[in-house]
Amino acid sequence: MSFLSGIEDKTSSVMNSKNINQLFSIDHSNIWHPFTQEKLNPTKFIVKSAKNDILSVVDERGNQRELIDAISSWWVNIHGHCNKYINDRIKEQLDTLEHVIFAGFSHEPAIELIDKLRRILPRVDMTNLHETAPSLNRAFFSDNGSTAVEVAIKMAIQYWHNQGRENKKRIIALKDSYHGDTVGAMSSSGSGYHTQAFKSLLFPVDFVSSPAPKLGKRDKNLSAEEYDKFVELETQKAADQTIAEIEKLLQIHPNKYACIIVEPLVQAAGGMKFYSKEFLQKLRKLTRENKVLFIADEVFTGFGRTGDDFACKEAVIVPDIICLSKGLTGGYMPMSLTFCNDEIYSVFYDDSKLKAFFHGHSYTGNPLACAAANASYDLYVKEKRLDDVKFINQKMHLTLNIPEIKLHPLVRNLRILGGIAAIEFETARETSYFDGLGQLLHEKFLERGILLRPLGNTLYFLPPYTISISSLEHCLSSLKEVINELDYDI
Ligand SMILES: Cc1ncc(COP(=O)(O)O)c(C=O)c1O
Repeated sequence: MSFLSGIEDKTSSVMNSKNINQLFSIDHSNIWHPFTQEKLNPTKFIVKSAKNDILSVVDERGNQRELIDAISSWWVNIHGHCNKYINDRIKEQLDTLEHVIFAGFSHEPAIELIDKLRRILPRVDMTNLHETAPSLNRAFFSDNGSTAVEVAIKMAIQYWHNQGRENKKRIIALKDSYHGDTVGAMSSSGSGYHTQAFKSLLFPVDFVSSPAPKLGKRDKNLSAEEYDKFVELETQKAADQTIAEIEKLLQIHPNKYACIIVEPLVQAAGGMKFYSKEFLQKLRKLTRENKVLFIADEVFTGFGRTGDDFACKEAVIVPDIICLSKGLTGGYMPMSLTFCNDEIYSVFYDDSKLKAFFHGHSYTGNPLACAAANASYDLYVKEKRLDDVKFINQKMHLTLNIPEIKLHPLVRNLRILGGIAAIEFETARETSYFDGLGQLLHEKFLERGILLRPLGNTLYFLPPYTISISSLEHCLSSLKEVINELDYDI
């Protein structure tokens, strides 16, 4: 299968100025890549260009190849690569205003963006129907998902501090969660391999069990329907357990908690674990009754990934604070937003300078990133991206949600939600990020021209919403093929 058509070789002059060996040599000697043990996994490819779902890459031997970006470049890309409309809007902005201080000054791209986005944020809360939920009207810009979370947490803490409630400063978070790599985001993430070395830096957070079920080995005597029922019951049990743990904490320490932070519906980096809307609804009610702020980290789920604009919209709840990044700029520029409701903002709006929110970054509200986000929003609405997600979802169901896959001896659990498909494999070991199966699967898919990056023994597929039908079909049929090729002693 060839994916070559339509890709212009725009960067060959750059590539030719240094030969490929030199480029790899500099990369291997001087660049430190994220989340990578370079000794075991040095850079394999240099990306020359990209169009829609296709990356045009060169390997160390100088061979050109094409790879389907089946993980949306770490979950950020929603309209495909090098989209002409977004490119043009950024180019226009570049000749107008590239960047400017954002304190005391503002600019049109930022104002336009916030005016558009606040209209699509969650507005209806089924847990509070007798009152209008306070709208998420106030936006704070930062640079990435982690800083959006830092901002949210600091906002929540200072919200209580500004009201003289200095003791209301403790945070509740979920086990198996991931909120980023800055210290506050790490502190609120479930402990694991990525926070081990930094334990001494982390501030105390009260963790409760994940509301997503931990599924042991699949009982092979169950039919596909019986197993689905089992998962449903386990999901409910896990949610009830988590709610009970939170209730207990709030009962023991009624005045201690500032906020609770969750990744709504999907614990993404924690293994693409799904949990129920009902859990979010119960939690929303509980936080409101106990005056604890509800922070929704929608860095991953925002902009259609779970099938609605936001996971909170799908659960019909309105959080107090919502964090957005990744899909915000369509995957073009690093930028994030933390929206809060008017009530929270009112506690900072004061004659006292000491009540101002003490946070900011040099590149806050970067106009180029805002232009990308405005263009991404336009496409998202005009081209009805949620319909694209629906189409991908249907294709995933048709190809994967079948007894051949679900009852395959090596498959523990298949999960599909919105534009996400995840397959948790049975291994002799506990489910783990470091499971060697991940690397094996990664390589098997590379052989088929597909970039996937499993989380240990959980393989997930989440392509840009504009993935071509041929690429989508190739990915789905390869998933089936690879599952059937795996050895039984993985
Ligand atoms: C839910 C969630 N929050 C926060 C982050 C951190 O975002 P970033 O990598 O942009 O700092 C991630 C990254 O994957 C995420 O999935």
